[in-house]
Amino acid sequence: MTAICEYKPGLENIPAAQSSVSYVDGQKGILEYRGINIEELADKSTFLETTYLLIWGALPTKEELQAFEHEIRYHRRIKYRIRDMMKCFPETGHPMDALQASAAALGLFYSRRALPDPSYIRQAVVRLVAKIPTMVAAFQLMRKGNDPIQPRDDLDYSANFLYMLNEREPDPLAARIFDICLTLHAEHTMNASTFSARVTASTLTDPYAVVASAVGTLAGPLHGGANEEVIEMLEKIGSVENVRPYIENCIEHKSKIMGFGHRVYKVKDPRAPILQKLAEQLFEKFGYDKYYDIALEVERVVEEKLGHKGIYPNVDFYSGLVYRKMGIPTDLFTPIFAIARVAGWLAHWKEQLGENRIFRPTQIYTGDRGMPYVPIEER
Ligand code: ACO
Repeated sequence: MTAICEYKPGLENIPAAQSSVSYVDGQKGILEYRGINIEELADKSTFLETTYLLIWGALPTKEELQAFEHEIRYHRRIKYRIRDMMKCFPETGHPMDALQASAAALGLFYSRRALPDPSYIRQAVVRLVAKIPTMVAAFQLMRKGNDPIQPRDDLDYSANFLYMLNEREPDPLAARIFDICLTLHAEHTMNASTFSARVTASTLTDPYAVVASAVGTLAGPLHGGANEEVIEMLEKIGSVENVRPYIENCIEHKSKIMGFGHRVYKVKDPRAPILQKLAEQLFEKFGYDKYYDIALEVERVVEEKLGHKGIYPNVDFYSGLVYRKMGIPTDLFTPIFAIARVAGWLAHWKEQLGENRIFRPTQIYTGDRGMPYVPIEER
C-alpha cells in the first residue's frame, strides 16, 4: 500500500475525524463547544450542563438537566473492591497512573462491548462522569494513610469533589471557580488524548478502556502534564528578578517553557485569560500568591522573546495557580484535568460509535527488505 500524501510528523493539519463536538480558531483565539463560545459557557453554565451539551449535542431542558444531575449524584460511589484494589497501589505512584488503572478496572465490573444504543451510552457516561472524581479523591486520601470518605448527596458535583478531597465542605466561591475550571478543560477538538480515545473507541472496546487509554495519553508533560511543570518552573524561578535570565537560558538551550505554545493557537489561548481572572478572584478572597507576579513576568518576557513565533500562554499556564491557591497538591492537577476532559472523550466516543470505521492508518516504511536470517553463532 502506498501513502497518498506527504508524511506530517505529529499528523499536523491532517483531519482524523469529522466532528461537531467543538471548534477552535487558532488565529483568532476562539473556542466553542457545540457552537457556543467558551467565555459564555464559563460564565453561565455548569460543568454538568456543559457535559450534557458536549455529549448529547444540545443544551438540556430544565427537566433533562435535573434528571442527569440526579443520576450522576447517585452513581458517585465506587465498589469496595475498587477501593480495596486502590489501597494496594503504592502511595508514591503518580495519581494519573492510579486513575488510569482504576478507570480500566471499572471495565472489569461493567464491561460490555460498546453498543451504539442510547441507554448503554447513557449508563456508561453516568458511571464514568460520576465515579472518576470519587476515584481521584479516594487515592489522594489513601496515599496519606486515611480511609476514603463517601460522596455527599447534598453537595453538587464540584463541591462534592472538593469535600471528598479535603474532608471538609469547600468555600462556595472556590467550588464555583473549580466548576468553571472543569468547564474550561472539558473539550478541545482533536488533541492527543482525544485522538487516543477515538482510536480505542473505533475498535468497539468498552468505554472504560477508551477513557483509560485517554488518561494515559493526557499524563504526558507535553499534554495535560504541563500544568504540574508550570508550578515547578515558577518555584524554580523563585523571584521576579530571576525571570528574564531563566527564560533567556531556556531559549538559548532550546528547552520548552512549560505552559506556552500550542499546536493550534498562535495567539493567547482563550481559556488562559479566564483562568487568570479566576486566579485573581481567589487571591482577592484568600490572599495574594507571589508566584502570580512571577507568572505575569514570565508571560511578559516570553511574549517579548517568542511572541513572533506565535508562542503565548496555553490553558495550563494559569490553571496550576488556581489549583495551588485551593490547596490542591501539584500532582493532582492532571487528574483534575482528566475529570473535566472525560466529558470531551465521551462525546467523541459517542460520535465515533455513530459512524465507526476502525482506525488503520498507513506508514512510510524506511527499513531494509529481503534480509537474510543470520544464525546466532555467526552474528
Ligand atoms: N517554549 C519555547 N519554545 C517553544 C515552545 C515553548 N513552550 N513551544 C513551541 N516552541 C517553539 C519550538 O522550539 C519551535 O521553534 P523552532 O521552529 O525555532 O524550532 C516552534 O516553537 C514550534 O514548536 P513545536 O514543538 O514544533 O510545536 P508543536 O506544535 O509540535 O508543539 C506543544 C506544541 C507540544 C504544545 C509545544 O508548544 C510545547 O511543548 N509546549 C510546552 C508544553 C505545554 O505547555 N503543553 C501543554 C499544551 S496545552 C495541552 O495539551 C492541554
